[in-house]
Amino acid sequence: MLQWDKSFETNIESVDSQHQYLIELINDLNKEVIAQMEYDNYDRIMEILTELKNYTISHFKQEEQLMKDIMSKLSDEGLAQFWLYFKNHRAEHVAFINKIEQIFNKDIDDNQAEISLDLINFLVDWLKNHILKIDLQLCKYV
Ligand SMILES: [Fe+2]
Repeated sequence: MLQWDKSFETNIESVDSQHQYLIELINDLNKEVIAQMEYDNYDRIMEILTELKNYTISHFKQEEQLMKDIMSKLSDEGLAQFWLYFKNHRAEHVAFINKIEQIFNKDIDDNQAEISLDLINFLVDWLKNHILKIDLQLCKYV
C-alpha cells in the first residue's frame, strides 16, 4: 500500500490532489489483485487500470500545461534552464504512458495475476520516484 505523506507535497493544489487520486487508484488496484485469489474480478481490475491510464494521461497533460505557463513567464536565461527540466519531465511522462499502453496491448491476457503484481510494484516505484524527484521541483518555479 502506498501512503500519501507530506514529503509528496508540491504545494500546487491541483497537482497534489491528482497525485492523491492516483495513489488511491493504485491502492484500489492492489486490493483487487489480492482479492482475485478468492474470486474472479478481472473486469474490476480492467476498469481500474483503464481509469488509471486515462487519468494519468489527463494529469500529465495538466502538468505539462502548467510547465508551459511557467515557461511563458520566464526570462531567456531562466527559460534555457527550465527547458531542460521540461524536456526530461515530459520524456518521463511519455515513457510511463508507453509502458501502460504496452501492458494493455499484450501483457494482461497472458498472465493476469503475475502481471498485476509486477504492475503494482512498477506503479508504486514509478509514482514515488517521479513525484519525489521530478514533480517536487515544480514548486520552485510556481
Ligand atoms: Fe510529472
